Amino acid sequence: MRQAGRYLPEYRAIKDRFGFWEMVRTPEIAAEVTLQPLRRFDLDAAILFSDIMTPLTSAGIQIEFNPGPCVTTPIRSHDAIRRLRLPHRSAIAPFVVNTIKMVREESVRPLIGFAGAPLTLAAYLVEGGGSADYGVLKRWLHDNTPAAHDLLRFLSDLTTRYLHLQIEAGVQAVQIFDSWAGIHSVRTYDEFGLPYLKQILAALDGTGVPRIYLAVGAAHLYRQIRTLPIEVISVDWRTPLDECRTLFPGKTLQGNLDPALLLASSKVVTEETRRTLRQGLGGPHIFNLGHGVLATTPPDNVARIVDIVHAYTRTEDDVL
Ligand code: CP3
Repeated sequence: MRQAGRYLPEYRAIKDRFGFWEMVRTPEIAAEVTLQPLRRFDLDAAILFSDIMTPLTSAGIQIEFNPGPCVTTPIRSHDAIRRLRLPHRSAIAPFVVNTIKMVREESVRPLIGFAGAPLTLAAYLVEGGGSADYGVLKRWLHDNTPAAHDLLRFLSDLTTRYLHLQIEAGVQAVQIFDSWAGIHSVRTYDEFGLPYLKQILAALDGTGVPRIYLAVGAAHLYRQIRTLPIEVISVDWRTPLDECRTLFPGKTLQGNLDPALLLASSKVVTEETRRTLRQGLGGPHIFNLGHGVLATTPPDNVARIVDIVHAYTRTEDDVL
């Protein structure tokens, strides 16, 4: 999940001096921001500081952040899709390669690379930004099905190249963020989500790098998600891990403390962290939040959960 960001004063100090893209595109800054949470907390992994929108600018799309992504000219026509460039792997984000190398040199902790899922990227591209109901996107997908498939195919090809680039540069796991998967019906996800995810994930077969998939608010899609070639399923806070265990036999579960609970009292933080750990017993579990850290989170509560997780003995015969 996102573990850097505005809840950290040292992040805000950098953000006061530089724009978001400047931070992402300057390897010294991006590497520093990647490492900030690790300097403060005893975390077991770093996640690359970048954004799901990063590879899209290399295709000729203009994006700004305010604070979420804003696409200057939304992409809704065949012509706009035809104008998109599919750059060579090395031209997608050379600065990301350098950031990854710098982080790997500075830290022995595993580094997670990431990309956005095509359908989630398409949500921003078609809407032009975030949206309350994604009505423009949903209408566009179903009214312009051939164009929608062209766009999603393009995004899958770009994402596949981008993830290969990150793996070559040294990331040790990759996570695909499908933050808006949950807004879709099973039928829409079947047609516009699943096939493209399968294409990207299958292309990573044989890299030896674990593949993590997060779909937010998507318990109704778990029957589809079961069929993805992934090693780890990241679960948001809505579904208890023990319930997911039976749905994803043989997979590692990642999650799933509600990030909003890090705003609660230390008693609640402690209890709910331990509950998540207990619910993760019964198979391989990577403790994490169910989504990214909120900007209003007190850093001390992050420190608290890291301590609780490290102190926890998984063999203990814990009763729920
Ligand atoms: O630890 C890390 O911070 C990892 C880097 C990271 C960022 N974005 C940096 C960022 C990662 C993994 C992402 C992924 C991302 N970006 C997702 C998928 C994960 C998720 O949270 O669902 C999505 C949907 C985006 C698009 C995006 N970028 C949004 C919606 C926002 C606004 C979020 C906010 O906090 O208001 C951004 C901006 C962004 N990306 C920030 C960061 C640290 C905040 C920028 C700031 O205002 O300082």
